Amino acid sequence: MTSILMVCLGNICRSPLAHGILESKLHSDQFYVDSAGTANYHVGDSPDHRSIDVAKSNGIDISNQRGRQFKVSDFDTFDYIYTMDDSNYQNVIALARNTDDIGKVRCILELEDSIKIKHVPDPYYGGISGFQDVFQLLEKACNTLSKKLQNSDI
Ligand code: 4NP
Repeated sequence: MTSILMVCLGNICRSPLAHGILESKLHSDQFYVDSAGTANYHVGDSPDHRSIDVAKSNGIDISNQRGRQFKVSDFDTFDYIYTMDDSNYQNVIALARNTDDIGKVRCILELEDSIKIKHVPDPYYGGISGFQDVFQLLEKACNTLSKKLQNSDI
């Protein structure tokens, strides 16, 4: 089993989308996907309704996900940890115990050469179009990531 963790700040907007999109592209008997936030603001909460709606309109149900905070033991549980932006990256790296932990962490958009921006913008304070933009960015990145994972090319 290969395990992948998606990380953002609140675990209600971006990482639940990344979690749902990647999960939809992989076989659950070979890959385990989860998400977490670096902050504890939304522990136990459902994803933001705008993320739920955008996912649903693209055929993905993320309504059963619940927010949780990133924890040090996630470095042991997961093979790959993808952060949405540099702030999340720095927050996760600050908890790393050794170079093995650090080596598991990357910003997700660094995977996809065709995307010019390197960080998934935080859509929380904006309108629905920001969530649609985030979905498109993550769809592209997760498409590349799913192929790399399936081909062991990562
Ligand atoms: P996320 O967005 O990190 O993509 O889940 C946010 C969600 C909540 C907050 C900030 C960003 N907040 O400040 O509560």
